[in-house]
Amino acid sequence: MCGIIGYIGSDDARKIVTDGLLALEYRGYDSAGITYCTNDPSHPVKTVKTTGKVMNLIEKLNDHHEDLVPFSGIGHTRWATHGGVTETNSHPHSFGNVTLIHNGIIENYRELSDKFAGEGKFPVSQTDTEIAAMTIDSFYNGDAYEAIQKASEVLDGSYAFCIIFSDRPDKIYATRKNSPLIAAHCSKGSFVASDIVAIIDYTKDYFILPENYIAELTADNITVYDTSGNIFNPKTIHVDWDIAAAKKGGYEHFMLKEIHEQPDAVINTVSPRIVDGLPDFSSDNVPDELFRDINRIVITACGTAMHAGMLGKYMIEKYARIPVSVDIASEFRYSDPIVDKHTLVIAISQSGETADTLAAVKLAKTLGAKTLAVVNVKGSIIALESDHVLYTHAGPEISVASTKAYTVQLSLMYLIAYKTAMVNNLMSDEEAAAKTKSLTDSVRNMKKVIDMDEELSYITQKLKKADNIFYLGRGLDYAIACEGSLKLKEISYIHSEAYAAGELKHGTISLITDNIPVIAFATQDNVYSKVISNVVEVRSRGAYVILITKSGEHVDTTLCDHHITLPQMDEEFTPFCTAVILQYLAYFTAVRRDLNVDQPRNLAKSVTVE
Ligand code: G6P
Repeated sequence: MCGIIGYIGSDDARKIVTDGLLALEYRGYDSAGITYCTNDPSHPVKTVKTTGKVMNLIEKLNDHHEDLVPFSGIGHTRWATHGGVTETNSHPHSFGNVTLIHNGIIENYRELSDKFAGEGKFPVSQTDTEIAAMTIDSFYNGDAYEAIQKASEVLDGSYAFCIIFSDRPDKIYATRKNSPLIAAHCSKGSFVASDIVAIIDYTKDYFILPENYIAELTADNITVYDTSGNIFNPKTIHVDWDIAAAKKGGYEHFMLKEIHEQPDAVINTVSPRIVDGLPDFSSDNVPDELFRDINRIVITACGTAMHAGMLGKYMIEKYARIPVSVDIASEFRYSDPIVDKHTLVIAISQSGETADTLAAVKLAKTLGAKTLAVVNVKGSIIALESDHVLYTHAGPEISVASTKAYTVQLSLMYLIAYKTAMVNNLMSDEEAAAKTKSLTDSVRNMKKVIDMDEELSYITQKLKKADNIFYLGRGLDYAIACEGSLKLKEISYIHSEAYAAGELKHGTISLITDNIPVIAFATQDNVYSKVISNVVEVRSRGAYVILITKSGEHVDTTLCDHHITLPQMDEEFTPFCTAVILQYLAYFTAVRRDLNVDQPRNLAKSVTVE
């Protein structure tokens, strides 16, 4: 959601900034814009904006030929919140001496706008961002640090700002509160961006700008000031993946590439946490005590990460016998949650930026809970805010629809379940070692399902024409059904619902008519016959049934139109395979409908607003 890049240095800033915006497209946006500076004395600061894609912006820029090489620039992809998708509302916004780009929401913008109106100052856009530009400008008397500092005392809400003052285009300023912003300096100059993907072409070393600190970027260096105006030396973070990981690498879509990357991602995530065959988080500085002396676990997350949490609940409750609730982060915050020092709150997030999940972590901490983040992006805000962090090692996930981030989250939830059971003396070392081995072995089965692409693509010939699709399952398969339904909705725009199969008859079965596709997961032994009974119920009402079972099950072929058989495996690990199936079904359906798989409409990869 909203992407930011700023650059100042020896290269063509227009090119570096627009390349960065292309890399940030995956965050989700609906308009784009850039401000760049040249040594043109009559017109040093220029802004070009457009609705739609970054390519539209690049085409528009091509009409603005520059003889002078732009030495600095700030660029933005906007995901509209306040004010419609128009060129005027696109960033950058300028007022007086200030031009800025913004990710976040200024909550008191109406109040500030009224105050400016009283002074005879009016914005041209409908955005909260322009009000922020007006606020900073109102405090500006030639001292950029002071103006930004004073404005931050007045602005409520969340923001990552990148600012150019028109009377000093040789510098870029940046600050943030509750929204992500990183910065880096290398031989080409200084960069600031929403995330490392925007600048990975130039450097693998970056730092996170601490909240409310102000960075001053010049071509030669970056100076960071703390809230008292003292110089602060930030800690550098190094990314361990390279540019190839953030490119399509010959695949038609990022999503397809990321589906294929899952076996490696799971191994990369699990292997460093297995010592002498047992789950071990000591290299993450996560002590065993974290899982002891707790009487409750709350898992909080959004979207796909929340579905990983649902599977985590089954596993933890099964083995560690500690009650687990899975709370949607945006609900948790406002539910007056029962959380205290004996509660472990686990926040799951791919991006580590999701505003609701972040707020849930902050609330949990104020209530005295212990917090553990399961996060993919190193050094992200949720990771920094939590007491402990277990990083998943999926590498960059670019497609909006999450795939590999989900399966790596699952793999860590399994390890957490075994670890919690062990430290509470409910699982022996032998059993934990056997489970951990089966977890890593399940990657082989995942690969086999990844090779079932043709069969799964074939099935979607029917799905692509559907208006409604239902997903059914019980136990672990219900959590998988929820993720299957979400994935399909996200990228194919087909309405879909997931139902705990036994609940179907309490309402949803009225919607089952001739030819409605029903995708039923029946991989769990203890409920297998029950799910099959539910399949019979929908089948006898005309449903078009796709049934997924483990190998070895005797399935009456009249029960379904397609029977998908998983490789031979322990039922506990089927989610690693059924996840691939649901991802492929959504993917091929969207491809057959000729949709933008990687950037579905209205969705954002990182949801940084509440
Ligand atoms: C957005 C994305 C989803 C993701 C969810 C949570 O809605 O489109 O794919 O599951 O946010 O994101 P997180 O980064 O916290 O896992």
